[in-house]
Amino acid sequence: MAIKSKIRELQEKREKLLLGGGEQAIEKQKALGKGTARERIMALLDEDSFNEYDLFVEHDARDFDMDKKSLPSDGVIIGSGTIYGAPVAIFAQDFTVAGGSLGLMHSRKITKIMDHALKMRMPLIGINDSGGARIQEGVNSLAGYGEIFFRNTISSGVIPQISVILGPCAGGAVYSPALTDFVFVVDNISKMFITGPEVIKTVLGEEISMEDLGGARVHSEISGNAHFFASSEEECFAQIKKLITFIPWHNGQKARPFDPGEPLKKYNIDKIVPDDPTLPYDVKDVIRAIVDKSDFFEIMEHYAKNIVIGFGRMGGRTTGFVANQPLEMAGVLDVDSSDKAARFIRYCDAFNIPLITLVDLPGYMPGVDQEHAGVIRHGAKVLYAYSEATVPKLTVIIRKAYGGGYIAMSSRHLRADFVFAWPAAEIAVMGPEGAANIIFRKEIMSSDDPDGTRKQKIEEYKQKFANPYVAASRGYVDAVIEPEETRRFLLHSLAVSEQKSIQMPEKKHGLPPF
Ligand code: HXC
Repeated sequence: MAIKSKIRELQEKREKLLLGGGEQAIEKQKALGKGTARERIMALLDEDSFNEYDLFVEHDARDFDMDKKSLPSDGVIIGSGTIYGAPVAIFAQDFTVAGGSLGLMHSRKITKIMDHALKMRMPLIGINDSGGARIQEGVNSLAGYGEIFFRNTISSGVIPQISVILGPCAGGAVYSPALTDFVFVVDNISKMFITGPEVIKTVLGEEISMEDLGGARVHSEISGNAHFFASSEEECFAQIKKLITFIPWHNGQKARPFDPGEPLKKYNIDKIVPDDPTLPYDVKDVIRAIVDKSDFFEIMEHYAKNIVIGFGRMGGRTTGFVANQPLEMAGVLDVDSSDKAARFIRYCDAFNIPLITLVDLPGYMPGVDQEHAGVIRHGAKVLYAYSEATVPKLTVIIRKAYGGGYIAMSSRHLRADFVFAWPAAEIAVMGPEGAANIIFRKEIMSSDDPDGTRKQKIEEYKQKFANPYVAASRGYVDAVIEPEETRRFLLHSLAVSEQKSIQMPEKKHGLPPF
């Protein structure tokens, strides 16, 4: 029958294309510890869920002998599938085909799946492994990037956008990931830079390796471009799958609920925070003592560690956590931690994820370096993000809440819906030592025993102001609670906030300080 031979013809054509750039190029890819584009998609998606589109797309470039070259599927695979049943649109650049470089048809395949994701309201995952703009295609390649950046921006806040860097990501190619919500990198495999070592050597005369310039560790620890760091592609895919379980498919819905579960007994909330207020503790243990099954999914773990951000579930519902980390620089807000927190707050707000903020900080970081790096501008991002957020906002003041830090960390004044304080909370304009030295300076200086008087005045100040009760007497704090009551108060507050609805003044858009 004719149809049978046609089916065979299709199968043969497919088989040829499925080999991408050929066995030799695939071997080279494997030798670097990298999977092929198709293997990566299969590893990420539910079994048998992938539907591929545009397998037969070919480039039509003519210059530089391109008319003599066949580039299977033009070096990128696109399609849709599911992750734990959640629909996702996906593309994966195929480095075995012209180094995954981006020509016109390659970019059209990517923009097609981006349009599809936006129209169908599902998350978009892009696996980047590419030498950047296909040099032979000139301005067509640049146009392709522009079309991608535009769609990244238009889709921002509507559907989740996830970028996975699994190879080089060079030149303009880096800006698409930078416009997306979450960037995943893998040690020794991911490389991101706007200009490579060769150009840097020519222009600046400096020698630097690709790894030191823009490897996975650089972007996870120093630049803040990456949100998740993994040691292998497998670990990276497990992280992406987990993330997908925490977020909604689009901004018109909430994340899917999961089976709730109590925190593990080993995280005893009464024992985590030391009695001595000068001693540090790991705020992640406090989060684990609060969230369902103690399962906290941290984001940007290795960057600006003085603030902790991530997802957990409360009563089965995804919740975003923002917490000062007393283990790092006493949990201060500085340029990088402000930036990290503000973006996460805006993510949660865009995707209907309630926010829980845990406060313990001495304030914004003082000093010439921070002032010159723009701590005012960056610090203001936190004020802006919390003020603007309309999702339920719950705050727990654990210990110190001084000065601007008190206001910035989701205070009542920025419209937190519920503010709780533990009994050891100190809510004041500044720390007792600094405050006593300023307001009692004359008494201390003129005293026969300045040290003794200073100690006495510090104690006096502590008694009067460094406690939660002054704020509670004004209603800035809704309840002073025992640590052990925290989960119960938060669960109740989240339950009564389910239908929260507030109107903001109409405007085209605000002007956050970015
Ligand atoms: C066309 C490219 C290419 C590119 C790689 N290839 N990059 N073809 N355009 N941009 C091809 C190579 O010619 C080679 O083809 C194959 O891909 C594999 O590349 P190799 O160099 O052999 O691989 P490797 O040694 O692993 O090095 C990978 C690399 C290197 C580090 C990515 O190829 C490289 O530096 N490429 C250029 C990176 C770059 O500068 N891109 C920026 C472009 S400008 P054959 O046929 O030999 O297998 C840009 C601006 C966009 O992106 C701005 C938008 C706003």
